[in-house]
This record gives sequence, C-alpha cells and structure tokens, in this order.
Amino acid sequence: MKMPKSAVLHDFGPTPLSFRDAVFLGLAKPQKTLPCQFFYDERGSRLFEKICRLPEYYLTRTELGILGTMGPELHSLLGKNARMIEFGCGSSEKIITILKHMNVGSYVPVDISKSALLELTRDVALQFPDLQIHAICADFTKEFEIPLPVRGGQQTIGFYPGSTIGNFTPDEAREFLAKTRALLGRDGLMIVGVDLQKNPEIIERAYNDSAGVTAEFNKNLLRRINQELNGSFELERFIHRSHYDAVKGRVEMHLESREEHEVQVDGASFSFLAGETIHTENSHKYTLEGFKKLAGDAGYSPLRFWTDSERLFSVHLLRSSG
Ligand code: TRP
Repeated sequence: MKMPKSAVLHDFGPTPLSFRDAVFLGLAKPQKTLPCQFFYDERGSRLFEKICRLPEYYLTRTELGILGTMGPELHSLLGKNARMIEFGCGSSEKIITILKHMNVGSYVPVDISKSALLELTRDVALQFPDLQIHAICADFTKEFEIPLPVRGGQQTIGFYPGSTIGNFTPDEAREFLAKTRALLGRDGLMIVGVDLQKNPEIIERAYNDSAGVTAEFNKNLLRRINQELNGSFELERFIHRSHYDAVKGRVEMHLESREEHEVQVDGASFSFLAGETIHTENSHKYTLEGFKKLAGDAGYSPLRFWTDSERLFSVHLLRSSG
C-alpha cells in the first residue's frame, strides 16, 4: 500500500514478543494464559471490526456518539494547530469525527502493526488532504520518540479511544498514562475513552454475543497456534467464557476445555483438565470517580468528561499537570 502524499512513515521496526515464546510461557503457567496482543492477526482484526458493529457491543457506537457531541466544546478548549497523537489504530471513524471539529496541524498515529497503520493513514488522508500525517510504527506501551520537533507553543493532544485502557490492569493503566506525559509535554492534553461499570448483564452480553462472533474471536488464538506453531487444538473442545467480576470491575475472557485432553504445540505437549481454562483477556470497567482518581495518580488533572444519556461509556479530557 502506498503512502499518501501528505504522509510520512517512521518505522522503528518494533520487535513484538515472539508468538512462540509467549505461547510456551503462557501455557506452562498454573493458570494458563495467552497475551491479548495476539488476537489481532488479519482474521482477528476482521472479527474485531465485526464485534464493534454487533447490537450487543454498545461500546463503539456509544463512544462514537459521545465524540460527535464533544466537538464545539473541544474546539473552544484547544489551541490552534495542535499535534494529535493516537495510541493504537482503531477505526478511522473515531479520529475523523474528532478531527472534523478541531484545528489540528498534524496527526501522529502510533501502532505496532504496519498494515493497520497504513490503512488508517490512507483513510484519514482521504478525508483531510492538507493534514500532515506522521505515522509511527512502534510499540506504544514501550518508550518511543516522535521524530518531529514541536513548533513553539504548539500543543500536543493524545487520543486513546475504545476503552483499550481497560485491557491493562489498573496498575498498568496508571503506568501507561504516566509515561504518555513525557510525550505530551507541558500543558499536553489527553482524550481517553473509558467503559463504565453498569448492570453486569449488559456488560456480559457485550462479550458473549448471540451470533457467536466474540467466541470466534477468542478461539482465533487457538487457530493461530495451529497454523503458525503447528498446534493440534481442536476448537470444538473449548468453550468461550466471559464473566463480569463486579469486585474487580472487569470482564474476564477464558477458553474452557470441555474434557481432559492433551494438545501438541511445536513438538511440546500441554495437558488440560475438564473445566480448565486459558485466560485470554481482561476488560476493566471504571466508575467516573475511579477513573479520575487513576488519572490523578498518573499526574493528570481531569478537566472534564462526557457520557451518553444512559451513562454506559465515558470520554475524559485530562491535562498533564506540571
Ligand atoms: N478493547 C476491547 C474491549 O475490552 C477488546 C475486546 C472486545 C475483546 N471484545 C473482546 C477482547 C473479546 C477479547 C475478547 O472491549
């Protein structure tokens, strides 16, 4: 895929944790795990896009609705000609909604996947042909640099939608937010999408849809192991489980073995008991106060937040303090 004229790619050549190492490490633990970053191969990314359009998955559509209403206020709060950094490549629809209302001078999407980055860059460039785009291929959970210097007085704004922050534990989320402050500089702002605690039935339905897309998505990890690591997982022997733990405030996704059996991966054998699970993902939900507290602990001042009328989802505007 070619880069649009208004865009430059800065490739830091991120080296993701090897899939094989991660699988061997995770399956050897007493509570088996597989790290969630491996959900998003090409098939996984397509399935996730499908999840975002499911009737039960209220997150994407609610957040988009909120972003659509924030425009005028954001416009009055933000300086002209700002530089916008997006952490991770979500759907281009969200950033396009935000950019429509803002006077942004440059846009800097950061993602570990070069193909996702190129696709997003192309979509945004089509909508905003004059916008300077600096796409950065890097792991945004690690340290990385932004190659272009800020012009005097230019404000930097971070954008982290999709409640992706909820896939970190609260400790990791605080650390991640604290790290972003160095990139945003003095008076930098951060816009974060955060899913809210609510009736557990609504949450559980969003992670166990009736069409079975989420189950497919979860099991895609096993399919990947079969294809890429010569694995012998039989997908029918596993059940997709998602459960909301109200005390921890998080949905846990698991793959549960129906019966006792053995699975081969790249020559090694892993055994499963009946009912034993592989823990594949957490999705933390916050209260408005809880998230503001976490942001404060990470060195941000919460400026304000927006929610939908049912208080399903929230978008927070934070200022890097000091
Ligand atoms: N960031 C998304 C979320 O927490 C990721 C996600 C949605 C997900 N559905 C999933 C991850 C199912 C694993 C399994 O809502």
